[in-house]
Amino acid sequence: MKTKSSTIDWKALKKAASLAQRKAHAPYSSYPVGAALLAVDGTVFIGTNVENASYPLSLCAERSAISAAVAAGKKKFLAIAIVSNGPKAAPPCGGCRQVLAEFGPSFPVKSFATTGDELTSSVKELLPAAFGADFFK
Ligand code: THU
Repeated sequence: MKTKSSTIDWKALKKAASLAQRKAHAPYSSYPVGAALLAVDGTVFIGTNVENASYPLSLCAERSAISAAVAAGKKKFLAIAIVSNGPKAAPPCGGCRQVLAEFGPSFPVKSFATTGDELTSSVKELLPAAFGADFFK
């Protein structure tokens, strides 16, 4: 399914991501991230980064939102908003791009920095030529 970015209530999605960002467990990086994932039925699932003293076990906000949605039985999405601090809006990391692509193939992604910077993209644009189930099905 292809979503038109203009039909999404980005203001509401950004707000949900900002609220999630406040819940971050990011004592090691001090870089809290919030994500809000809009499912096709209109439900919004939030996620935040959950770091661990064993650093590699840390979970990104985007994957945290995907996990919440899947646990609630939702696997089809229209958009994701991400909020982080710092001067520049941060796109999803490589691992999160692959996880988003699993539930794609493409929906709009908007990143917001609390300073005001914005980045508009899509799952497809962030991870072209993604590896997926099509290769082994
Ligand atoms: N982080 C995210 O939550 N999402 C991303 O896409 C990039 C990075 C988190 C992971 C870690 O807790 C912190 O930001 C610093 O890398």
